[in-house]
Amino acid sequence: MNASMANQSSAPDDIAERVAALLAQMTLAEKIGQMRQLNASEGYAPHYLADDLKAGRLGSVINIVDVGTVNELQRIAVEESRLGIPLLVGRDVIHGFKTVMPIPLGQAASWNPDIVRQAARVAALEAATTGVNWTFAPMIDISRDPRWGRIAESFGECVLLTSKLGVAMVEGFQGDQLSAAGSIAACAKHFAGYGAVESGRDYATTNIPETKLRNVYLRPFKAAVDAGVMTLMTSFSDVNGIPASANEFLLRQVLRDEWGFDGFVVSDWDSVRQLQIHGLTENDKESAFEAARAGVDMEMQGDAYANNLAELLDEGRISIDTIDRAVTNIIRVKIRLGLFEESFTDPEKLPPIANEHALATARKAALQSVVMLKNDRAVLPLSVDELKSVAIIGPLADAPYQQLGTWIFDGDVNLSITPMHAIHSLVGHDIDVRYVRAMENSRSRATEAFDDAVEIAASSDVAILFLGEESILSGEAHSRADINLPGDQAELVRRIRQTGKPVIAVILAGRPLTLTNIVDQVDAILYAWHPGTMGGPAIADLLFGIESPSGKLPVTFPRLVGQIPIYYSQKNSGKPPSHDTVVHIDDIHTRAPQTSLGMSAFHLDTHFTPLFAFGHGLSYATFDYQNIRASAQEISMGDTVTISVELTNTGKVAADEVVQLYVRDLVASVTRPVRELKGFRRLRLEPGQTVSVNFDLHTDDVAFYGRNMQLTTEPGVFHVWIGGSSEAQMRTEFRIVASA
Ligand code: NOJ
Repeated sequence: MNASMANQSSAPDDIAERVAALLAQMTLAEKIGQMRQLNASEGYAPHYLADDLKAGRLGSVINIVDVGTVNELQRIAVEESRLGIPLLVGRDVIHGFKTVMPIPLGQAASWNPDIVRQAARVAALEAATTGVNWTFAPMIDISRDPRWGRIAESFGECVLLTSKLGVAMVEGFQGDQLSAAGSIAACAKHFAGYGAVESGRDYATTNIPETKLRNVYLRPFKAAVDAGVMTLMTSFSDVNGIPASANEFLLRQVLRDEWGFDGFVVSDWDSVRQLQIHGLTENDKESAFEAARAGVDMEMQGDAYANNLAELLDEGRISIDTIDRAVTNIIRVKIRLGLFEESFTDPEKLPPIANEHALATARKAALQSVVMLKNDRAVLPLSVDELKSVAIIGPLADAPYQQLGTWIFDGDVNLSITPMHAIHSLVGHDIDVRYVRAMENSRSRATEAFDDAVEIAASSDVAILFLGEESILSGEAHSRADINLPGDQAELVRRIRQTGKPVIAVILAGRPLTLTNIVDQVDAILYAWHPGTMGGPAIADLLFGIESPSGKLPVTFPRLVGQIPIYYSQKNSGKPPSHDTVVHIDDIHTRAPQTSLGMSAFHLDTHFTPLFAFGHGLSYATFDYQNIRASAQEISMGDTVTISVELTNTGKVAADEVVQLYVRDLVASVTRPVRELKGFRRLRLEPGQTVSVNFDLHTDDVAFYGRNMQLTTEPGVFHVWIGGSSEAQMRTEFRIVASA
């Protein structure tokens, strides 16, 4: 069979045959070529790459988004190389392409897999118009450290939420049919444990015990693999002494042998050669050896493979089998993408960029991602009937680029509608909207313009402050040690507070910030993350009650940076803190010194609780949970118990609520978290409406990796809570008994 015969069908058996037939014709150089990806940003391509392409020495390019150039590269690959194997064209399409969706952490706050799927679909359709057929998303690293800049790209701290949203994003990118125009291959990254970098310093070391790796960090990846994600990317970091790009345990034992993954693994950018910098290898050749042996199929932007694999094979240090397996994995994905059938891109066959549906999706995603953290005396929503004027203040009220967030290589800033503009168009005819930026950017220390801000606040009915951090303060290699509001923003809040006017803070940020120093200075807080292109209209709708806030925190907000890591699914410890056991540093004399009697796990200088808990988020409605019950007190292994609750909207407006179910396995052979999210559902309720909400829990849903590293459910008693946050108090329980 020749390459053109590789075009004909795509049933699994046929794919295997097509790959095998192609592989049989490939020279070693052509095989190694498939394992190589190069940067092709404008200026280089296609001439720079033409020779390599013709000789079959390149399997993939990254960072080229000009459709003419991409088509030309594909043409050379398909028409001028011996076997005509098309190229994978990769790009970081992380949260939108031209139309920018909220950052992934914001999308996670929607707790809505449907909107995450739709947002990814829009991004795939837009990216595909340029010939991009592979994105490096979703990032499903569990992230429990808000100092880490890449928490912005994550779905937060929770295993279940990250797994469900990660799968939804994969489905959105890959579509119903991967070979259809507008579907692109997804890449679950970074395998694995990247989110656990020490003190949130990007690229730093991670140390994760195997039980934690398996129970927490690996589970979203397993879910993505089960959902058919085409590719995985390694992480830059060291995992328990073996950098991820050389980690045979992760890449072979877990991923291939245990999970049966049949897509391919790409290294992170130059991370194969970086094995030397880690101190694992002496040179590129040894790095290529370690990575290939461990199971990295394709090297991203680096030539360790291209320059050394042949020699390593010659020396008998790696086998042809290792190379064949990698090439098979890569070609299989190319076939599944339909690239042999349709190598070229005609943008006309795809929907126009930033069409009505794309913008509506971005707006809905932004709307559902905003979390109302507090709302004293129901200061929100604002009513145009009761107001004559509103003061808009702050560096992020009218910052079209900053609201887009990190990783927006292709985002079109001209599409951005800022909150300031949106508020003007929504209420500008009815009330006086005044605006003072007050600070050049979030980091400014210049306070001269504060007087103008105070003046408009003092003469308006309400002040809305747009605070937070610019997009550049989060993302890759943008970690922070101090996660307070940067610059003199706290001082600005204090000054505006002194006017005595109601103060509303709208915070745009790529991470949870420590808001302790401003939380009592403001009446309401809307946490909007970086909300993307349509952030402005979404925020305006929420401020003026066109819609009710419905986002819930996908990550815990610490009071102080010193509490990190603080997350809802912590272990109990032998001395759990309670309101009776903690003592504040100012009252320390009430405790006997240097004794363990009556002491518990807390910091003397802050609470043991977070500022805002995982799952927290207020609404303009109020929700009442009643009558939690389990369908059975006892179930056998392999059975399902249904946990139900009655939920009533006791408020005056229709609104969405995200109902959350948490479980605790009371006694187990390894200690289990105090709570784990095991179900959630976003529901819309009219005022006065009551619905019964049921969650089916199968005994497999509470399985975990114990001492023997096998996924097992252990018999015993389980507590179950249902409510609107991880602090839900309403509880029932059931018991699992071993089957006879
Ligand atoms: C490095 C980042 O870690 C990764 O997430 C990204 O996809 C690649 N660079 C490609 O840009």
